[in-house]
Amino acid sequence: MDFETIKRLEDTYTANTYARYDAAIISGRGARAYGPAGEEWIDFTSGIGVNILGFSDPGWAAAVAEQAAKLQHTSNLFYNEPCAAAAEKMTKLSGMANMFFCNSGAEANEGAIKAARKYGMSGRGGRSEIVTLDGSFHGRTMATITATGQESFHKDFSPLLQGFAYAKPNDIDSLYAKLSDRTCAIMIEFVQGESGVNVLDADYVAEIARVCAERDILLIADEVQTGVARTGRFMAYEYFGVKPDIVTVAKGMGGGLPLGGILFGERTKDTLKPGDHGSTYGGNPVVCAGADYVLSRIQDDFLAEVRRKGELFKEKLTGMDGVADISGIGLMIGVSLTNADAKRVAAACLKNGLLVLTAKEKIRFLPPLIITDDEIEAGLGIFAETLATAER
Ligand SMILES: Cc1ncc(COP(=O)(O)O)c(C=O)c1O
Repeated sequence: MDFETIKRLEDTYTANTYARYDAAIISGRGARAYGPAGEEWIDFTSGIGVNILGFSDPGWAAAVAEQAAKLQHTSNLFYNEPCAAAAEKMTKLSGMANMFFCNSGAEANEGAIKAARKYGMSGRGGRSEIVTLDGSFHGRTMATITATGQESFHKDFSPLLQGFAYAKPNDIDSLYAKLSDRTCAIMIEFVQGESGVNVLDADYVAEIARVCAERDILLIADEVQTGVARTGRFMAYEYFGVKPDIVTVAKGMGGGLPLGGILFGERTKDTLKPGDHGSTYGGNPVVCAGADYVLSRIQDDFLAEVRRKGELFKEKLTGMDGVADISGIGLMIGVSLTNADAKRVAAACLKNGLLVLTAKEKIRFLPPLIITDDEIEAGLGIFAETLATAER
């Protein structure tokens, strides 16, 4: 199909929920994407942080194809081998105690909210309130838009869930003002992705961990965007020296297929009991075979390369004309522009052969973690040229 046909069919037959770029991607390899008219782009998006091994990594594609040809689904009434293998790797790499597989980041956060409420309700005086942060993003379901501390996601969807309060990030007084004897959990992203790749202060995170331990409040880390090597550590919490009680993951873990997960620590590993939670596709063998392959690639040298490439991005962006500021950790990078409009710059980059994301008023880069130095150089060359001619 040519682009115009694809566009017309999607515009006609899918609900109008996405503001799309004016392009279709029909194939890809590594950090290169291709369009129906032979367009080629360098990819600084990885499908919003999903394709960490790039497009159609041959090892990942083989693992998925082999599993699809062998057994595609069993239901959770039976044990299955890829689920067992992927869960073992996830818990060992993260240092958590056990986990639950689901299909997306929002579903992982839903489960985390349920688990935190059950923890707070049972033997802890009926605690059900969860404190989240202004500017956070936790998903699109009713519970997760409620957890999301941004009014723009709430409007038109009332009534929201009860039992959420919002504190200002990096403001201890605001946090204390929102805590009460009904608080069961504090839920944070160490780097707020959607609202501009803003990294939390280490002191602030340390104080959250301290108050959680002191008051028997759970620390929930939403690592849907930061987790599974994106920041150059397996989990972003490693940078902050804290150990959350619940960690949610998705995006990079599946390498491109829909997979989410909730990791439980020692305090929470037995909170959910048979019948409390479930998901038909959770732990699906095909998706987990792909995840098992992705996780087998995440070794110390892989993580060190992500950190090195993150530094390379920062070095090359520092002092670039049109760049005001750079934020983020590893290969999760936010770029504030001195004068140009981020959405227009992103659209111009697309025309010039580079895929980038925006996050509020910033440009956001979430490249595949296997991107090469040459691709970083070439992509940033396009970015610099685009900024030089950007409409103010
Ligand atoms: C931090 C965070 N949490 C949750 C989500 C929701 O994930 P999903 O779109 O897979 O439901 C996202 C998605 O961007 C995210 O960045």
